[in-house]
Amino acid sequence: MATEETLVLIKPDGVRRGLTGQILARIEAKGYELVDLKKFTPARGLLAEHYAEHEGKPFYEPLVEFMMSGDVVAARVAGHRVIEGFRSLAGSTEPTTAAPGTIRGDLGRDWGLKVQQNLVHGSDSPESAARELGLWFG
Ligand code: RTP
Ligand code: MG
Repeated sequence: MATEETLVLIKPDGVRRGLTGQILARIEAKGYELVDLKKFTPARGLLAEHYAEHEGKPFYEPLVEFMMSGDVVAARVAGHRVIEGFRSLAGSTEPTTAAPGTIRGDLGRDWGLKVQQNLVHGSDSPESAARELGLWFG
């Protein structure tokens, strides 16, 4: 069976705060492989496709604006059960209550904004991973 892959994004808050290295180091320390990396400011069209499931929700437009606000680092990450494993490393969506020991729990906080700035994205299923890796890495 081919090794599983997931899409990880270090969101603009993570890049702006200088946490890219720390976050990538946690992924490597866990034992996963960084297969490919790129850094750029994503266009609205890419984000609209990436976040299509959230269209119409109150945080959708603030989310897209936030994600367009600066560079992100996109990573193709590989390893057995990496999709589930990275979600576990990232912690739950809200940084205030994300467990200590996780990326969001240790490095994130609520800034009182219209959308949670929570440092990272990770694909949530094999179907999402295939779709999102296609969008971000072609
Ligand atoms: P992600 O997709 O970024 O890995 O995060 P997730 O699965 O934990 O969260 P999801 O429900 O997919 O939401 C996508 C992103 O939207 C922002 N969000 N803010 N109420 C809020 O302020 C709120 N709800 C969602 C977060 O940045 C979340 O990661
Ligand atoms: Mg999600």
